[in-house]
Amino acid sequence: MRLEKKIALVTGGARGIGFAIAKRLASEGAILVIADINEQGAREAAEALGSEKSLGIAVNVADEVSVNAMIRTIVDHYGRIDILVNNAGIGGNTPFLDLRLEEWNRTISINLTGAFLVAQACARVMAEQGSGKIINIASLSGQRGGHGRAAYGAAKAGLELLTKVMAVELSEFGINVNNIAPGAIETEMAKFAHDRSTRAAYNYLIPMTRYGTPEEIADAALFLSSEESNYIQGHTLNVDGGFREAGLMFRGSKNLGQTDQP
Ligand SMILES: NC(=O)c1ccc[n+]([C@@H]2O[C@H](COP(=O)([O-])OP(=O)(O)OC[C@H]3O[C@@H](n4cnc5c(N)ncnc54)[C@H](O)[C@@H]3O)[C@@H](O)[C@H]2O)c1
Repeated sequence: MRLEKKIALVTGGARGIGFAIAKRLASEGAILVIADINEQGAREAAEALGSEKSLGIAVNVADEVSVNAMIRTIVDHYGRIDILVNNAGIGGNTPFLDLRLEEWNRTISINLTGAFLVAQACARVMAEQGSGKIINIASLSGQRGGHGRAAYGAAKAGLELLTKVMAVELSEFGINVNNIAPGAIETEMAKFAHDRSTRAAYNYLIPMTRYGTPEEIADAALFLSSEESNYIQGHTLNVDGGFREAGLMFRGSKNLGQTDQP
């Protein structure tokens, strides 16, 4: 029970990676607030954790008023916030030449501005406490120039840099700020954003030749939420089956011309 009685907020926790993280933190004794734009999904997810103390609430992370209301609700309920997992996000796979300003703005406002708003509001509470753990869910797409990831990748790259600045400025308040950069993870978002050829390309390029699971991201989030990571600051932990580090790979008789074979 590494997180006994800790108050943990997971944004976008109604499903996918966020829900897996919420479950993992709850399994170590944390009291969870699951906040999602899908309010019913957030409530059901909180109920599914089986802890009477967990809470499912609505938030639109891109809306400052909504974020401040969420933080007030949490502080009224529990009096503190120990862990934030800044996970809410939307996907996107539009070629650069076709990308419209509306999609660019929407992606940046949720994936980058939204993460900033929630992190800042939580960090103000944590700074008063003199402790806290913030884990931002970035992406491999923020580190590599993936096709179709102009808006999504730019937002996630911005989040990685924001994490470093937060780590520098918030150290004096006892707050750890780190990123997890997932690679290709099997979730509803991936089902929406990855067509057959995208999947084949990932399976070829990932040394471990498979997608990751939400539970594998949750294990990393648990580590960065726990005291075992107290001296890790401003770091990006890739959980990507080796994708970022990979160089030249040979796959027996396979070559890039056969990437549609998963
Ligand atoms: N699945 C992947 O392969 C992958 C890879 C790298 C990074 N990520 C990141 O992991 C995070 C979770 O991804 P996922 O695959 O579980 O996605 P998902 O679509 O399954 O879940 C995202 C959740 O965020 C919520 N959400 C969306 N917009 C919101 C808003 N404005 N305010 C509050 N909640 C909102 C959704 O309702 C949903 O419950 C995202 O930040 C995503 O960018 C995912």
